Amino acid sequence: MRSAISELRLTEFRAYTQARLAPEGRSVFLFGPNGAGKTNLLEALSFFSPGRGLRGSALAEVGRRAPGEPVGRAWAVSADVILGDHRARIGTGLEGAGDLRRRVRIEGETAAPSDLAELLRPMWLTPAQDRLFLDPPSERRRFLDRLVLAAEPGHGAWASDYEKALRERGRLLAEQPDPAWLSALEARMAKAGARLATGRADTVEALRTEIALRESRPFPRARLVLTGAWERMAGEGADLVQIESALADALAQGRARDAAAGRALEGPHRGDLAVFDIDKDRPAAECSTGEQKALVLNLVLAQAARLSRAESAPTPILLLDEVAAHLDPIRRAALFDEIEALALQAFLTGTDEQLFEALKGRAMGVHAEASRLTVRD
Ligand SMILES: Nc1ncnc2c1ncn2[C@@H]1O[C@H](COP(=O)(O)OP(=O)(O)OP(=O)(O)O)[C@@H](O)[C@H]1O
Ligand SMILES: [Mg+2]
Repeated sequence: MRSAISELRLTEFRAYTQARLAPEGRSVFLFGPNGAGKTNLLEALSFFSPGRGLRGSALAEVGRRAPGEPVGRAWAVSADVILGDHRARIGTGLEGAGDLRRRVRIEGETAAPSDLAELLRPMWLTPAQDRLFLDPPSERRRFLDRLVLAAEPGHGAWASDYEKALRERGRLLAEQPDPAWLSALEARMAKAGARLATGRADTVEALRTEIALRESRPFPRARLVLTGAWERMAGEGADLVQIESALADALAQGRARDAAAGRALEGPHRGDLAVFDIDKDRPAAECSTGEQKALVLNLVLAQAARLSRAESAPTPILLLDEVAAHLDPIRRAALFDEIEALALQAFLTGTDEQLFEALKGRAMGVHAEASRLTVRD
């Protein structure tokens, strides 16, 4: 079901005092100088999903701050969403400057961040992901988990449950371990971990199929390999019960080793996603900067294309920060055509209006300068 933003409103968000943009479901390209507020606007949209948004920032950093002010003000981002032929009003932010938790409202009612997935599913690509293949495995896990989350909103809760139990087990192992308590924590890790590994394996499998369909696109295609033991087990057809019990056993057996190492040496928090460029037959890390960028983009587009066909779930909205600037003109045109063909709403940024020449008349052009937005179409 097509999901898109009809109107967006920002209050005290980053450098924006107040801003409003009404794309009415159309795609948007934002251009303007460095520091104009382009990424900030995408970040605001990324808060319509669980977590810390596309910058992974602490919530107190996000509210508008004058130079020298230690904490930001209370902030809000709200939007009218079009979902099929239904409209809904959503909002998120901090009600008080010192609040530790982000509030979410749907149609004026308090909701959980994960409830937003019933209406809107933001997916993003930012310059921070330019180094994805050179970064440590944790960054690729986070990237993959975000792709899974766009399809499976429950994935985020399993991920945080796993992390919490993992940290608690680590603390317990460092102190005076109580075996019954350890077993309880390991059971929680095994339950959440089995679902994490299975979610990743299922998404990678679906992405492989989707990437194979994308042969004619001018983006480099990725071969994906999950290297973690638990993801491999899921990929080879083991069911949740089998993975859960094998993981619980492995954790119980690894207690002394993990206590000595000061961290858990086994589990889905150790898995990695290896990516190879199919056409070049090279690991992604050995490709050029532009090629790496196009590889990641192709992964995001493959997932978006897959989800654009979902009938019962909202289709994703794409937040593509500075993506156009890194693509050659052929790939840039292919990106614009694909967004249009998939009928997805995308928000694209770039410093130069020229980059979006081919989008004029097909998307809403917005000039950003000093956190002021002017529609230019
Ligand atoms: N909490 C905050 N309060 C006030 N201003 C902030 C806050 N956080 C960030 N800013 C400011 O917001 C401005 C706009 O940042 P943004 O990242 O959106 O720029 P941009 O248009 O994406 O620029 P670039 O082209 O360089 O990527 C920056 O000058 C930054 O200092
Ligand atoms: Mg930016």
